[in-house]
Amino acid sequence: MSAHKITYPVPGAVMKDAHVSGMPAYRSLVAEADADLGAYWGRLAREFVSWRTPFAKTLDVGSAPFFKWFEDGTLNASYNCLDRHVERGLGDKAAIVFEADDGQVNRVTYSDLLARTCRLANALKTRGVKKGDRVVIYMSMSVEGVVAMQACARIGATHSVVFGGFSAQSLRDRIAGAGAVVVITADEQLRGGKQLPLKAIVDEAIALGGCDSVKDVIVYRRTGGQIAWDALRDRWMHEETETQDDTCEPEWVGAEHPLFLLYTSGSTGKPKGVQHSTGGYLVHAAVSTSWTFDLKDEDVFWCTADIGWVTGHTYITYGPLSIGATQVVFEGVPTYPDAGRFWQMIQDHKVSVFYTAPTAIRSLIKATEANQAIHPGRYDLASLRILGSVGEPINPAAWEWYHEHVGGGRCPIVDTFWQTETGGHMITPLPGATPLVPGSCTLPFPGIAAAVVDETGNDVPNGQGGLLVVKRPWPGMIRNIWGDPERFKLSYFPPELQGYYLAGDGAIRDVETGYFTITGRIDDVLNVSGHRMGTMEIESALVSCTALVAEAAVVGRPDETTGETICAFVVLKGPRPTGDDARRIAAELRHWVAKEIGPIAKPKDIRFGDNLPKTRSGKIMRRLLRSIAKDEAITQDISTLENPAVLDQLMERN
Ligand code: PRX
Repeated sequence: MSAHKITYPVPGAVMKDAHVSGMPAYRSLVAEADADLGAYWGRLAREFVSWRTPFAKTLDVGSAPFFKWFEDGTLNASYNCLDRHVERGLGDKAAIVFEADDGQVNRVTYSDLLARTCRLANALKTRGVKKGDRVVIYMSMSVEGVVAMQACARIGATHSVVFGGFSAQSLRDRIAGAGAVVVITADEQLRGGKQLPLKAIVDEAIALGGCDSVKDVIVYRRTGGQIAWDALRDRWMHEETETQDDTCEPEWVGAEHPLFLLYTSGSTGKPKGVQHSTGGYLVHAAVSTSWTFDLKDEDVFWCTADIGWVTGHTYITYGPLSIGATQVVFEGVPTYPDAGRFWQMIQDHKVSVFYTAPTAIRSLIKATEANQAIHPGRYDLASLRILGSVGEPINPAAWEWYHEHVGGGRCPIVDTFWQTETGGHMITPLPGATPLVPGSCTLPFPGIAAAVVDETGNDVPNGQGGLLVVKRPWPGMIRNIWGDPERFKLSYFPPELQGYYLAGDGAIRDVETGYFTITGRIDDVLNVSGHRMGTMEIESALVSCTALVAEAAVVGRPDETTGETICAFVVLKGPRPTGDDARRIAAELRHWVAKEIGPIAKPKDIRFGDNLPKTRSGKIMRRLLRSIAKDEAITQDISTLENPAVLDQLMERN
């Protein structure tokens, strides 16, 4: 029996004018890529991207796994996202419809965005920033955030955006890791009616040391809140840009020039700086934005991600702008002033393609159950054509609700599987071509050689789970881990896997349709509300509280709303606390982790034991901890367990 049933055929209205219309069109693209991968992507690279110097080479596999795409071509990402649309007469088209936390709306045309980008690019140049320098961007969701990224791209500086929810310590590590010469930030950010610090955290990060490379901190004045000021280092963005020219000749860079670094969590060690290229990345961003969302000139696209994550890079800053689309950028949160905010905004801005995370959908389902006044059915969502999901598996119940209540039963849902490392969509339906099955991300994007294999890289039959790999390179793929090529090779192209890219997820394909379902990470990486986090990072943060903690182990527990929650098992230096003491220390440790990494890494559940369950050789039995976290009966063999008495202690919740 097949685990999947195709329950949702492609609606005729969507298929009709789709960029990829119908399964035969999808199959012919797949066949074109299979026949000659380089020629296929080369064709798309010429169609979707403007090159200053055309490339003659498409793919270079000689230095695998350090693959090179379009290597002898030159281009500029910001020219592709801005100038060329103005040049073809779209200067007055809205590039960004910005809605602030308080509901104020600001429409920014392509001409405006270009001028603002040029002014900031010129300001950066005046401060001595040049091609190849790194710039850290620690900003709220704002037009200025997008402009900051585009301005770096314009002058060939490599940006590294750090999500505004990360702590001073995390920010410091990323500034130091990248060797940034400038940090671009805002005085504060506004989210859900609250003013939250940004500049103060930059000050704290730099004060932690190791950031000597930073010469200037450029500050966007968002709230006008009180901030400390270092007259030698800090500069207001508006003062730096007001005297600058509206034009700035783009810096033409080679296709492999690093457009950005984005730090993400792995299963071991500190977060790694995923390095992306300019040419290949932009090709993947442009083609996937066009096909997966079937974006047309008149569409209004809205991706609710933050620019601090890869989704905000590819499907806000680069993809939609590279194809000249109009998009909504939102500063706030989905629950303010109430949990109808998304639906209100879709109605107000006539959003036609909406892209969000399953966590957001699940939390809005919950909010709707409590308050029918914010039910999506109360809003006019007739503008919607296509819905999207990203970041974690979407469970069939949430899928069905999204489809019925948000999409009115007529909008296909594209469940897009991809990663920071992949640059763009890897496995996803194309709305005009792929029949949908809730809970499955369906089929590979044309040109992506996704497969499910065993530990030695051999294909497993459909219906049998295995490791998700990608057998052939693709343009948007990670190029390196910043400063650590060895880790790059070992993490993503382990020797036992025949040179395939290892995604780090498990997957299974349907027996009949070959559709993929992602079964979750196979390593110690957690996904909490679509945010990726390494268990080791959280463990290191806990044990760095040397006054209290002797040892810690962190596991994920499945959660209906957030996908997973963080559960920490801690051995203190002092006696094992109980009752109020345990609750007080747990609160202290949560606060500690928030300071070390950021509030998103706070363990929801902290339990204390005199020890952790270990084998006689001293290995922590994580599988056992995962069962305990789930309050499951223990069925594992615990005969090798050195200290069974601690299990009862660890079962106690605080
Ligand atoms: O486990 C997969 C999950 O998110 C991981 C990648 O996280 P990150 O690099 O932060 O990028 C998130 C946004 C692209 C993957 O290894 N994931 C992402 N999308 C899906 C998913 N799991 C299931 N279904 C998806 N659509």
